[in-house]
Amino acid sequence: MNVLDIIEKLKTTQTAERDELVFLLENITGSEREMLRKAAQATALRQFGNKIYIRGLIELSSVCKNDCFYCGLRRSNQNAVRYRLTKEQILSCCDAGYPLGFRTFVLQGGEDGYYTDEVMCDIVRAIKERYPDCAVTLSLGERGENSLRLLRKAGADRYLLRHETADEAHYAMLHPESMSGARRKQLLYTLKRLGYQTGAGFMVGSPFQTTANLADDLLFIKALQPQMCGIGPFIPHKDTPFRDMPQGGLTLTLTLLAVIRLMNPSVLLPATTALGTIHPDGREMGILHGANVVMPNLSPQEHRRDYAIYDNKICTGDEAAECIKCLSGRMNAIGYQIVTDRGDFRTQ
Ligand code: 5AD
Ligand code: FES
Repeated sequence: MNVLDIIEKLKTTQTAERDELVFLLENITGSEREMLRKAAQATALRQFGNKIYIRGLIELSSVCKNDCFYCGLRRSNQNAVRYRLTKEQILSCCDAGYPLGFRTFVLQGGEDGYYTDEVMCDIVRAIKERYPDCAVTLSLGERGENSLRLLRKAGADRYLLRHETADEAHYAMLHPESMSGARRKQLLYTLKRLGYQTGAGFMVGSPFQTTANLADDLLFIKALQPQMCGIGPFIPHKDTPFRDMPQGGLTLTLTLLAVIRLMNPSVLLPATTALGTIHPDGREMGILHGANVVMPNLSPQEHRRDYAIYDNKICTGDEAAECIKCLSGRMNAIGYQIVTDRGDFRTQ
C-alpha cells in the first residue's frame, strides 16, 4: 500500500477500502498531505467556486436531559448556567441576522423537554412566515419519528445530528448506557426519509478513538450520503469526566476534512467553531482543505458564554455583526467570499 495511490483512488473513485483509509491516516507525510489538500480544495472550488455559505447559529437552550461524557451541557454539570430562549427572542435573532445576509437559521440546543412539538412547530412556523426565503435547520438532538415529521410539516428544511462515532462500542465509551449509537445512526436514515437535508458528523480525537474508528466514520458518511457533514476536534471541558483527556489534533482534523471532500464532492462541509477554537486560523485552514460553510453565532449576547459545550469557545464576546465582518475579512484574505444565499444542497 502507498499513500499516493490511495489519494489517487480517492480522487478518481471517491472511495477507498477501510484498510486503505487507516493506512492513509496513519502514514501520510507533510508533502502528501499538501497534495491531498490541493485536491480537496480543487474539488470544492469546482463544486462551489470561491463562495462560502453562512449559517446563523441560534443556540436556543443550554438545558439537556442527556449526560454525554464530553459535553459541558451534560445534565450532571452543576456549574453550567442554564437558559432557554423564547419564540420572541429567537425571532429577534433572525431579525438581527437577516439584514446581515443570513438566509439559513440553525436552531441548536440540548435535549430540552420544554421545546415540545407544539412549542417547536410554532417557532418554526413563525420563522418561515416572517422569512419565507430562509431555510430553517434544526439541531435538537434525538426526537421521535412523529415529532420529526411534524416539524418537517411545520416548515423545517434541514436537521443536524452528528453520529459522533460510527462504532457502537466506541459510542458506548462516550455516552451513558441510556444512549445508543445504533439508534442514532438509524435516526439519520429516518431524517433523510422524512425529506430533511440531513447533516451527520463526528468529533476528531475524541477519547479512546482509534484510526479504524475514523475510517468507519468516513465509510458511514459515504454510505449515508448526508447533505451536510460537521466535524471538529474534541476539546475538553473542565466540568466533565473527560476534563483531562487530550484535545483532538489540528492536522488530523484538516486531513479528515480533505478526505471527506474527496469522498463526497457535493457535501456541505463547515469549517467549525471548534476548529477555530484550537487554532486562530483554524477556519481558514478548513476552507483551504475543502470546507465551504461557516456558522457564525446569532445567539443573544447575554447567553453566549452559557452555551459552553467545550472550554475557550471563540466569538462568545462578539456581536453577530462583528463576527460576520471579521469572517468576511478572513475569507477575503484567503481568496473567498461569503454569499447571501440559502446554500441548499445540490448534486453534480
Ligand atoms: N469538544 C468538541 N465538540 C464537542 N461537541 C460536544 N462536546 C464537545 C467537545 N467537548 C460536539 C458534538 C455535538 C456538537 C453540537 O458539538 O459533536 O454533536
Ligand atoms: Fe466571530 Fe471572528 S468570527 S469574531
